[in-house]
Amino acid sequence: MPFYHKLGDIPHKRHTQFRKPDGGLYREEVMGLEGFSSIESILYHHFLPPRVKQVDDLGSAKSEYVDFGPIRHRAFATGGAPTGGDPVEARRMLLGNNDVTLGVSRPTKSMDYFYRNAQAYETWFVHEGSGTFKSQFGNLLFYEGDYIVIPFGTTWQIKLDTDQARFFVIENPSQIEPPRRYRNEYGQLMEHSPYTERDIRTPEELETHTERGEFEVHVKVRDRISRHVLDHHPFDVVGWDGYLYPWIFSIHDFEPITGRVHQPPPVHQTFQGRNFVVCSFVPRLFDYHPEGIPAPYSHSNVNSDEVIYYCDGNFMSRKGINQYDITLHPYGLPHGPQPGATEASIGKEKTEELAVMVDTFYPLQLTAAALELEKPEYMASWLEGDGE
Ligand SMILES: [Fe+2]
Repeated sequence: MPFYHKLGDIPHKRHTQFRKPDGGLYREEVMGLEGFSSIESILYHHFLPPRVKQVDDLGSAKSEYVDFGPIRHRAFATGGAPTGGDPVEARRMLLGNNDVTLGVSRPTKSMDYFYRNAQAYETWFVHEGSGTFKSQFGNLLFYEGDYIVIPFGTTWQIKLDTDQARFFVIENPSQIEPPRRYRNEYGQLMEHSPYTERDIRTPEELETHTERGEFEVHVKVRDRISRHVLDHHPFDVVGWDGYLYPWIFSIHDFEPITGRVHQPPPVHQTFQGRNFVVCSFVPRLFDYHPEGIPAPYSHSNVNSDEVIYYCDGNFMSRKGINQYDITLHPYGLPHGPQPGATEASIGKEKTEELAVMVDTFYPLQLTAAALELEKPEYMASWLEGDGE
């Protein structure tokens, strides 16, 4: 996903002899999802891909959840989340269920090992910082506002250009795809889509490493981390082609859909996974009906938990919410603008807000790390005034 791409040198025909300058064979690897019935890519390696010199167990990677308590609106100040370490080790899981886990990462250094999640897709939303995402498929430069979408089984490493960075991380044991309703029968994004293939960045620079030595790969699978030591550099690919590869879409390339009256949340949808969606709230003009109310109405997200990560701008409908906060509006009770916010929105022509929303179709649980960041006063933020 999202379309066919190739990089580097590949033979004219798959599964045929493809030789190195010294006459030896390059080693072909077919990497396919769902038992080779879904998307796949074919990679050509310098070394035999199964070579692993040493394996160790680094322990559990399973998210542990705490009791949610009575159903209520929750908010978490991730501005105060701990910093330090590389992007993978700095990551704190905050919310999750069987379909998706959500967390933040505030790293202060680049990775000096490699990482592969064999049990889930990972999407790293770059809120702050920049650098290079390196994988066996090649390099992708990333900047603030990028969604880095990483398929199952990709071996990768993040090199930061900045002293600090801040990511919102989505992990799901299913594929991340553009919404189906925006794609035609051939998979192409259609004219009413808020973005097209032209907005999707694919790996463009393939570095082929033929060094020998000791190279450490942390593999996440079966809810544990295994440490593999390879006797060769894992990025030894001379060429590949197919549909399975990491890619980037920038939130700044999302073209908002606006209307005469308030548009519903699905217009912000950016990706779909199994039993959840990812939406982008971006700067946009407000509704242009002369009697229009730009703020949303109160709404009951009847069977969908709603998580919003507030990136930038003044999020008009939320009182007491700051940059880097995450709100969780669980299903079971309505939510909407706090007292005064609806009136204050009337006559406003545009918003500069930037936020990422994840709606899950099954309830989310909290981790102990989320409780440490909680703003317990949030549930009372609708109580001011006389209640009308
Ligand atoms: Fe909502």
